[in-house]
Amino acid sequence: MNLLLIGSGGREHALAWALAKSPKLTRLYAAPGNAGIAKVAELCSLDVSDHAAVIDFCRDKNIDFVIVGPEAPLVAGLVDDLDAAGIKSFGPSKAAAQLEGSKAFTKGVCDEANIPTAGYGRFTSEAPALAYVRDKGAPIVVKADGLAAGKGVVVAMTTQEAEDAVQACFSGSFGDAGAEVVIEEFLEGEEASFFVLSDGRNALALATAQDHKRAHDGDEGPNTGGMGAYSPAPVMTDALVADVMARIIEPTIATLAARGTPFKGVLYAGLMITANGPKLIEYNTRFGDPECQVLMMRLDSDLLDLLLASAEGTLDKATAAWKDEVALTVVMAAKGYPGSYEKGTRIEGVEPLSSDGLEVFHAGTRSEGGNLLANGGRVLNVTALGATVADAQRKAYEAVAKIDWPEGFCRTDIGWRAIAR
Ligand code: AMP
Ligand code: GLY
Repeated sequence: MNLLLIGSGGREHALAWALAKSPKLTRLYAAPGNAGIAKVAELCSLDVSDHAAVIDFCRDKNIDFVIVGPEAPLVAGLVDDLDAAGIKSFGPSKAAAQLEGSKAFTKGVCDEANIPTAGYGRFTSEAPALAYVRDKGAPIVVKADGLAAGKGVVVAMTTQEAEDAVQACFSGSFGDAGAEVVIEEFLEGEEASFFVLSDGRNALALATAQDHKRAHDGDEGPNTGGMGAYSPAPVMTDALVADVMARIIEPTIATLAARGTPFKGVLYAGLMITANGPKLIEYNTRFGDPECQVLMMRLDSDLLDLLLASAEGTLDKATAAWKDEVALTVVMAAKGYPGSYEKGTRIEGVEPLSSDGLEVFHAGTRSEGGNLLANGGRVLNVTALGATVADAQRKAYEAVAKIDWPEGFCRTDIGWRAIAR
């Protein structure tokens, strides 16, 4: 089969690396890709927001299957347009991608299907939102409704902070994403990510992971896209997985199917494991980044078969096998990230590191004249398999130490919570 993979992050490098192992693969194209993806795919400079151009490319290259990595093209309806052109693809329709595209939409699904989640109010103007905050008090969580690149959520520890966040949303800090605001009850517990494939009717549990969203050691500093992750998440026992499937995932899939907008693709549930059981924090409609990197390291089945089963409606016959080992990834980012940072700095020592059980997935990289250059905020994902979290952590940091990139940094404690258990 000829495949087109959309995206350019560490997530897409991990997907490309896994797809490249499939015996069904003939040619793999990636748009736009990065320097790591270029080792297993042909990069093409397609504007993926131009759906007609993507369709033309697919016809020209006889693409059999398109795999969409990031959320933006999903929410923009790329899968719908490919469908209409008769081109098979992996990922949800625009309507089903609202599970990620609108927090209020997801809350509506939770209400309809009785899914455990934080209590909330939704607001389209400032005064009632401020009144709600004053009535409920802190801690409280203020969220811009739409996609805000992970920056639209404020976990407010004081009423003042929450009021400031409400005002920021309604004064346009998040553009259209903040035109509606969801204000939520603060949930206490341990967070975990849970990944499931769906074909619209059936749900196949993949694996669990935990990420580290804060920029600095000890889970301090500003929020980022994720500074490291490991899989499995020790907090997610088999009993919890079964509970989450029965009370959160399956009702979601059933509700979207009943509405006539079935969810196909990967559903990523952000969960809070509270004293009263698991609660849904949010859905994403794509693989997590960097969670995907640890999932792909542990996957012992053909990824292409699984993604095809999601697109073709045959997930009831599919199984996913996982290595017993733990996978852990350390994100190396450009100094300054998630604020401003330099691009174009040179990185050395990456190439010889890949071995059995160790991969360096590329995120923001490009190659120029044989040199590897940083080309983004999150740049490399040093990913190791180990018998335990501590073992995988040691292997990953040993590899990090061999990478020569003075302009980069990473957290030194990825996996601490699991190790502390
Ligand atoms: P979200 O983008 O909705 O996943 O929110 C980003 C982060 O904010 C989550 O990963 C949590 O750490 C935190 N968060 C979101 N909602 C809540 C909540 N209701 N209670 C406590 N923390 C939350
Ligand atoms: N690592 C968090 C995310 O992909 O949204």
